Amino acid sequence: MNDIHCHILYGLDDGSVSIEESLEMAKLARSGGTKRIVVTPHSNVTGSYRNMWCPEFSDMIELLNSRLVEKDIDIALYPGQEIFCGDNFLNHLLEGKLITLNNTRYPLVEFDFYEHSASVYMKLKKLVSEGYVPVVAHPERYAFLREDETAAIKLRNMGCLLQINKGSIQGNFGRNAYNAARFLLDNSLVDFVASDAHSPYMRTPFLAEAFEFVAETYSFDYAALLFSENTLAVIENRDISYV
Ligand SMILES: [Fe+2]
Repeated sequence: MNDIHCHILYGLDDGSVSIEESLEMAKLARSGGTKRIVVTPHSNVTGSYRNMWCPEFSDMIELLNSRLVEKDIDIALYPGQEIFCGDNFLNHLLEGKLITLNNTRYPLVEFDFYEHSASVYMKLKKLVSEGYVPVVAHPERYAFLREDETAAIKLRNMGCLLQINKGSIQGNFGRNAYNAARFLLDNSLVDFVASDAHSPYMRTPFLAEAFEFVAETYSFDYAALLFSENTLAVIENRDISYV
């Protein structure tokens, strides 16, 4: 499996607080079957985490990757960000101050949980018009999506892909997020499941249970598509097979 949404880079946001904790997260992820993780610190959050991309972030990834080799933890980290679509997000992306998942055509994007749908669609249209394929992080947590059963279809018709959180299908974000995630899964509107992990203790990167749930509730092939095949296609900047 591959994880395209994980706050494993230490000291940058509300995720890992230290290199030791990052290594613990990687170890836990590996024990759950994950082989590749794209690091996705919160970025461009209005009034909060700015995290414009800089060489120090690449150095941190390199350091962590070398520590993983030393510790014989067979997992590889790749650069990325979870981009909050606030002020100037598109200009920052075009200028390289914000980056996509492993520098591919796929940016991981998030919004305010209560942002109006019209504003979300407008921002995503701008991204698509620049040739990006937006990966919308945790759509099941957004009010506009829960209020409009056709919203997910609209997003995918615009050229976006949808990434739900493993915690949502495990009930960790409440009944509304659980129901929305199940609705998306039931209707084959999900493209990826990712951990959105923040620590080795709560909101962890352990994906095995969520994989089993999807495999048993839907099918093994659907689970493999969402956890392995599509996520690898993103990391390798390939097309998603059915898009
Ligand atoms: Fe996140």
